[in-house]
Amino acid sequence: MTTNLNRQWRVARYPKPEEIIGPEHFEWVSEPVTEPGDGEFLVRTICLAPVPAQRGYLEKSHDSFLENLPIGEVMRGRGVGQIVKSRHPDYQAGEIFVGSLGWQDYSIQRPRGSEFVFSTKKVKNPIRPLSTELSLLGQAGATAYFGLLETGKMKAGDCVLVSAAAGGVGSAAGQIARIKGAKKVVGIAGSDEKCRWLIDTLRYDDAINYKTENVGDRIKELFPDGIDVFFDNVGGGILNAGLANLAMHARIVICGFISTDYSPGPHHGPINYQCIVYKRARIEGFVVFDYWEQYEKAERDLFEWYRSGELINAEDEDKGLEMMPDSLASLFRGGNTGVKICRVSPDPDIF
Ligand SMILES: NC(=O)c1ccc[n+]([C@@H]2O[C@H](COP(=O)([O-])OP(=O)(O)OC[C@H]3O[C@@H](n4cnc5c(N)ncnc54)[C@H](OP(=O)(O)O)[C@@H]3O)[C@@H](O)[C@H]2O)c1
Repeated sequence: MTTNLNRQWRVARYPKPEEIIGPEHFEWVSEPVTEPGDGEFLVRTICLAPVPAQRGYLEKSHDSFLENLPIGEVMRGRGVGQIVKSRHPDYQAGEIFVGSLGWQDYSIQRPRGSEFVFSTKKVKNPIRPLSTELSLLGQAGATAYFGLLETGKMKAGDCVLVSAAAGGVGSAAGQIARIKGAKKVVGIAGSDEKCRWLIDTLRYDDAINYKTENVGDRIKELFPDGIDVFFDNVGGGILNAGLANLAMHARIVICGFISTDYSPGPHHGPINYQCIVYKRARIEGFVVFDYWEQYEKAERDLFEWYRSGELINAEDEDKGLEMMPDSLASLFRGGNTGVKICRVSPDPDIF
């Protein structure tokens, strides 16, 4: 090890409901690196992935399924790292590990359940860059895969709408819909540049800039026969506009609700909910971890599509552990194109 200090972001205070999370909610500290005990191993962080749900660790909220972190605790977050010291017979120094590393340079880890749980695993065949384990082969890719194909039951010939389409999950969801033979794939995003990127790089058929266009009118124009699968990451007015333009037996996949994430509640439901009855539609929420037992298949498919060049792994990298609070905040301001990754140290020379 080149340093015996472990830099960390610890929780300093909880944000108010209307506040975007940022550096003021965290404290930057350093402490000596601790030694692994029996059955444990020490992991040096290579990359972390800030995701919108991490705000939930700091929210004294309602009905979130995430546990609150106590003030003073190291901020929780998934990452990929390299084992640098081990006192566990199955984990060797030099191996690559994905898990809840926290916003810090080093963490003490121990195995948790199945090796196939995508959030905690030893990476048997690492690929470059290692951040792929957090993006396409991690939570973003798995969420898009299971949300679209399992919850949304998307099939060839479907017309698919994806909101927050240029984000981590959305950028994979639209591409998977294309690979699976969608008749039409349209994305909704917050800038003309992102809309161009969806069409030119990710092979979306069309895109709607929700900041400058009338979303309801554009959806009606682009889906004259209605939407078969609406993969919604946003909620609020965008969900409402989608509901008004469904095909018969449409499936609405509720993946997230980032538009209401930092607006004070209570939040109103969509006023177009009667369309669910008229169109015999199904609206269903899901959490990616519901599908972890099928993760091996998802990983195989995602990797195969990636290797063959059909699926682009879109990452948007910030550099330095110092950046983590800003990296997380940027997600709520549309500051990412693809999966936001924060690089803490370079990929080791293992390839
Ligand atoms: N159900 C699950 O298991 C699961 C798993 C992972 C993620 N999620 C959820 O899925 C959603 C997307 O996650 P992600 O990781 O892809 O996020 P991401 O990469 O951080 O993308 C978030 C994007 O949302 C857009 N956005 C932000 N505020 C918005 C608003 N008020 N209205 C419309 N769009 C807004 C921004 O792009 P623009 O520039 O386009 O505004 C931003 O880049 C989040 O709600 C997340 O919590 C759910």
